[in-house]
Amino acid sequence: MKKSKRTKKTNYWRFKQNKDQYFKKSKILGFRSRASFKLIEINEKFQFLKKNIYLLDLGSSPGGWSQVASKKIIKGKILSIDKKLMDPIKNVNFLKYDLLNPKTKDKILDYFGGKIDVILSDMAADTTGNKSLDSIRTNGLCMETLNLSKKILKPTGVLVSKLFMGDDFLEVKKLAKSLFENVNFFKPKSSKNESKETYLHCKILKTL
Ligand SMILES: C[S@@+](CC[C@H](N)C(=O)[O-])C[C@H]1O[C@@H](n2cnc3c(N)ncnc32)[C@H](O)[C@@H]1O
Repeated sequence: MKKSKRTKKTNYWRFKQNKDQYFKKSKILGFRSRASFKLIEINEKFQFLKKNIYLLDLGSSPGGWSQVASKKIIKGKILSIDKKLMDPIKNVNFLKYDLLNPKTKDKILDYFGGKIDVILSDMAADTTGNKSLDSIRTNGLCMETLNLSKKILKPTGVLVSKLFMGDDFLEVKKLAKSLFENVNFFKPKSSKNESKETYLHCKILKTL
Protein backbone atom coordinates (compact mmCIF):
# COMPACT_ATOMS: atom_id res chain seq x y z
CA MET A 1 0.00 0.00 0.00
CA LYS A 2 1.30 3.54 -0.84
CA LYS A 3 2.33 5.68 2.15
CA SER A 4 -0.36 8.39 1.62
CA LYS A 5 -3.09 5.74 1.31
CA ARG A 6 -1.84 4.04 4.50
CA THR A 7 -1.76 7.39 6.39
CA LYS A 8 -5.33 8.15 5.26
CA LYS A 9 -6.46 4.69 6.44
CA THR A 10 -4.72 5.14 9.83
CA ASN A 11 -6.27 8.60 10.28
CA TYR A 12 -9.72 7.23 9.41
CA TRP A 13 -9.25 4.38 11.94
CA ARG A 14 -8.15 6.91 14.64
CA PHE A 15 -11.18 9.10 13.82
CA LYS A 16 -13.54 6.13 14.22
CA GLN A 17 -11.87 5.05 17.49
CA ASN A 18 -12.16 8.56 18.93
CA LYS A 19 -15.87 8.66 18.10
CA ASP A 20 -16.42 5.26 19.69
CA GLN A 21 -17.91 5.76 23.19
CA TYR A 22 -16.82 2.28 24.34
CA PHE A 23 -13.24 2.88 23.24
CA LYS A 24 -13.20 6.16 25.20
CA LYS A 25 -14.84 4.54 28.24
CA SER A 26 -12.33 1.66 28.22
CA LYS A 27 -9.44 4.16 28.36
CA ILE A 28 -11.05 6.03 31.27
CA LEU A 29 -11.78 2.86 33.26
CA GLY A 30 -8.37 1.30 32.56
CA PHE A 31 -9.68 -1.64 30.52
CA ARG A 32 -7.25 -3.07 27.99
CA SER A 33 -9.88 -3.40 25.29
CA ARG A 34 -13.38 -2.19 24.49
CA ALA A 35 -14.32 -5.89 24.51
CA SER A 36 -14.62 -5.60 28.33
CA PHE A 37 -18.02 -3.96 27.86
CA LYS A 38 -19.30 -6.93 25.88
CA LEU A 39 -18.58 -9.29 28.78
CA ILE A 40 -20.09 -6.81 31.27
CA GLU A 41 -23.31 -6.73 29.19
CA ILE A 42 -23.42 -10.51 28.63
CA ASN A 43 -22.99 -11.05 32.37
CA GLU A 44 -25.67 -8.46 33.20
CA LYS A 45 -28.07 -10.48 31.07
CA PHE A 46 -27.12 -14.04 32.14
CA GLN A 47 -25.46 -13.56 35.58
CA PHE A 48 -22.75 -16.24 35.53
CA LEU A 49 -19.74 -14.43 37.07
CA LYS A 50 -19.80 -15.39 40.76
CA LYS A 51 -17.15 -14.85 43.41
CA ASN A 52 -15.99 -18.48 43.91
CA ILE A 53 -16.12 -20.07 40.45
CA TYR A 54 -13.47 -21.72 38.24
CA LEU A 55 -13.35 -19.88 34.90
CA LEU A 56 -11.44 -20.38 31.64
CA ASP A 57 -10.98 -17.38 29.30
CA LEU A 58 -10.05 -18.50 25.76
CA GLY A 59 -8.62 -15.94 23.34
CA SER A 60 -7.94 -13.68 26.30
CA SER A 61 -5.33 -11.27 24.93
CA PRO A 62 -4.96 -8.30 25.48
CA GLY A 63 -7.00 -9.03 28.63
CA GLY A 64 -10.22 -6.98 28.69
CA TRP A 65 -12.43 -9.97 29.60
CA SER A 66 -9.92 -11.32 32.12
CA GLN A 67 -9.87 -7.91 33.83
CA VAL A 68 -13.68 -7.98 34.18
CA ALA A 69 -13.66 -11.60 35.41
CA SER A 70 -10.89 -10.89 37.95
CA LYS A 71 -12.95 -8.12 39.55
CA LYS A 72 -15.88 -10.52 40.13
CA ILE A 73 -14.07 -13.79 40.95
CA ILE A 74 -12.34 -13.16 44.24
CA LYS A 75 -12.23 -16.66 45.75
CA GLY A 76 -12.17 -18.87 42.64
CA LYS A 77 -9.62 -19.53 39.90
CA ILE A 78 -9.12 -17.94 36.47
CA LEU A 79 -7.05 -19.40 33.66
CA SER A 80 -6.59 -17.29 30.52
CA ILE A 81 -5.25 -18.76 27.29
CA ASP A 82 -4.18 -17.09 24.06
CA LYS A 83 -1.81 -17.74 21.15
CA LYS A 84 -0.53 -14.20 21.78
CA LEU A 85 1.13 -12.98 24.96
CA MET A 86 -0.97 -11.21 27.59
CA ASP A 87 0.48 -8.85 30.22
CA PRO A 88 -0.11 -10.10 33.78
CA ILE A 89 -3.40 -9.43 35.61
CA LYS A 90 -3.71 -9.94 39.37
CA ASN A 91 -5.33 -13.31 40.27
CA VAL A 92 -5.28 -14.47 36.65
CA ASN A 93 -3.05 -17.30 35.49
CA PHE A 94 -2.02 -17.03 31.83
CA LEU A 95 -0.89 -19.71 29.38
CA LYS A 96 0.41 -18.84 25.92
CA TYR A 97 -1.14 -21.75 24.08
CA ASP A 98 -3.17 -22.49 20.97
CA LEU A 99 -6.58 -24.03 21.69
CA LEU A 100 -6.00 -26.32 18.71
CA ASN A 101 -2.88 -27.81 20.31
CA PRO A 102 -3.91 -31.32 21.50
CA LYS A 103 -2.08 -30.73 24.82
CA THR A 104 -4.23 -27.72 25.78
CA LYS A 105 -7.11 -29.71 27.30
CA ASP A 106 -4.77 -31.52 29.74
CA LYS A 107 -3.06 -28.24 30.64
CA ILE A 108 -6.48 -26.83 31.56
CA LEU A 109 -7.54 -29.86 33.63
CA ASP A 110 -4.13 -29.92 35.39
CA TYR A 111 -4.44 -26.27 36.36
CA PHE A 112 -7.95 -26.54 37.79
CA GLY A 113 -7.56 -30.08 39.13
CA GLY A 114 -10.97 -31.06 37.75
CA LYS A 115 -14.02 -29.76 35.93
CA ILE A 116 -14.91 -26.08 35.86
CA ASP A 117 -17.91 -23.72 36.09
CA VAL A 118 -17.54 -21.30 33.17
CA ILE A 119 -15.82 -21.28 29.77
CA LEU A 120 -15.56 -17.96 27.95
CA SER A 121 -14.32 -17.69 24.40
CA ASP A 122 -13.80 -14.45 22.54
CA MET A 123 -11.44 -16.19 20.11
CA ALA A 124 -11.37 -14.78 16.59
CA ALA A 125 -9.36 -16.29 13.75
CA ASP A 126 -6.76 -14.04 12.12
CA THR A 127 -8.43 -12.02 9.36
CA THR A 128 -7.65 -12.88 5.76
CA GLY A 129 -9.64 -10.12 4.03
CA ASN A 130 -12.24 -12.68 2.98
CA LYS A 131 -15.15 -12.09 5.41
CA SER A 132 -16.91 -15.35 4.65
CA LEU A 133 -13.74 -17.39 5.25
CA ASP A 134 -12.94 -15.42 8.44
CA SER A 135 -16.43 -16.13 9.74
CA ILE A 136 -16.12 -19.88 9.01
CA ARG A 137 -12.75 -20.04 10.78
CA THR A 138 -13.99 -18.17 13.86
CA ASN A 139 -17.10 -20.35 14.00
CA GLY A 140 -14.76 -23.35 13.79
CA LEU A 141 -13.09 -22.10 17.00
CA CYS A 142 -16.54 -21.76 18.57
CA MET A 143 -17.30 -25.40 17.67
CA GLU A 144 -13.93 -26.51 19.12
CA THR A 145 -14.92 -24.71 22.35
CA LEU A 146 -18.33 -26.42 22.37
CA ASN A 147 -16.66 -29.82 21.96
CA LEU A 148 -14.18 -28.99 24.72
CA SER A 149 -17.05 -28.17 27.08
CA LYS A 150 -18.11 -31.86 27.09
CA LYS A 151 -14.73 -32.74 28.59
CA ILE A 152 -14.02 -29.92 31.03
CA LEU A 153 -17.31 -28.32 32.10
CA LYS A 154 -19.29 -29.33 35.21
CA PRO A 155 -22.82 -30.60 34.35
CA THR A 156 -24.31 -27.30 35.57
CA GLY A 157 -21.66 -25.23 33.76
CA VAL A 158 -21.94 -22.21 31.46
CA LEU A 159 -20.31 -21.53 28.11
CA VAL A 160 -20.16 -18.11 26.43
CA SER A 161 -18.61 -17.88 22.97
CA LYS A 162 -18.22 -15.41 20.16
CA LEU A 163 -19.58 -16.50 16.79
CA PHE A 164 -20.53 -14.93 13.48
CA MET A 165 -23.93 -14.95 11.80
CA GLY A 166 -22.45 -16.60 8.71
CA ASP A 167 -23.38 -19.51 6.45
CA ASP A 168 -22.50 -22.08 9.10
CA PHE A 169 -24.48 -20.40 11.92
CA LEU A 170 -27.12 -23.17 11.88
CA GLU A 171 -24.41 -25.83 12.18
CA VAL A 172 -23.05 -24.16 15.33
CA LYS A 173 -26.57 -23.79 16.76
CA LYS A 174 -27.28 -27.49 16.09
CA LEU A 175 -24.10 -28.55 17.88
CA ALA A 176 -24.86 -26.25 20.85
CA LYS A 177 -28.41 -27.64 21.12
CA SER A 178 -27.12 -31.23 21.00
CA LEU A 179 -24.86 -30.53 23.98
CA PHE A 180 -26.78 -28.10 26.22
CA GLU A 181 -30.27 -27.89 27.70
CA ASN A 182 -30.37 -24.11 27.41
CA VAL A 183 -29.03 -22.20 24.36
CA ASN A 184 -29.33 -18.43 23.75
CA PHE A 185 -27.86 -15.87 21.38
CA PHE A 186 -27.18 -12.30 22.44
CA LYS A 187 -25.60 -9.31 20.70
CA PRO A 188 -24.37 -6.74 23.25
CA LYS A 189 -24.89 -3.06 22.42
CA SER A 190 -21.10 -2.63 22.61
CA SER A 191 -20.67 -5.08 19.70
CA LYS A 192 -20.49 -2.95 16.56
CA ASN A 193 -23.74 -2.90 14.52
CA GLU A 194 -21.87 -3.43 11.27
CA SER A 195 -20.24 -6.60 12.64
CA LYS A 196 -21.90 -10.01 12.19
CA GLU A 197 -20.51 -10.96 15.57
CA THR A 198 -22.88 -12.27 18.21
CA TYR A 199 -22.50 -14.34 21.40
CA LEU A 200 -23.69 -17.81 22.28
CA HIS A 201 -24.70 -18.49 25.88
CA CYS A 202 -25.28 -22.12 26.86
CA LYS A 203 -25.91 -23.76 30.21
CA ILE A 204 -26.50 -27.22 31.69
CA LEU A 205 -24.85 -30.03 29.76
CA LYS A 206 -27.21 -32.67 28.43
CA THR A 207 -26.68 -36.03 30.08
CA LEU A 208 -27.02 -38.72 27.45
C1 LIG B 1 -10.98 -10.41 19.85
S1 LIG B 1 -9.48 -10.94 20.56
C2 LIG B 1 -9.94 -11.23 22.23
C3 LIG B 1 -10.11 -9.99 23.06
C4 LIG B 1 -10.20 -10.30 24.55
N1 LIG B 1 -11.43 -11.03 24.87
C5 LIG B 1 -10.18 -9.06 25.39
O1 LIG B 1 -11.16 -8.79 26.06
O2 LIG B 1 -9.15 -8.37 25.42
C6 LIG B 1 -9.33 -12.56 19.90
C7 LIG B 1 -8.14 -13.36 20.41
O3 LIG B 1 -8.30 -14.73 20.03
C8 LIG B 1 -6.99 -15.28 19.97
N2 LIG B 1 -7.01 -16.58 19.27
C9 LIG B 1 -7.40 -16.83 18.00
N3 LIG B 1 -7.25 -18.14 17.70
C10 LIG B 1 -6.80 -18.75 18.84
C11 LIG B 1 -6.45 -20.09 19.16
N4 LIG B 1 -6.56 -21.08 18.25
N5 LIG B 1 -6.00 -20.37 20.41
C12 LIG B 1 -5.88 -19.36 21.31
N6 LIG B 1 -6.18 -18.06 21.07
C13 LIG B 1 -6.63 -17.75 19.85
C14 LIG B 1 -6.21 -14.20 19.23
O4 LIG B 1 -4.82 -14.36 19.41
C15 LIG B 1 -6.78 -12.91 19.85
O5 LIG B 1 -5.95 -12.42 20.87
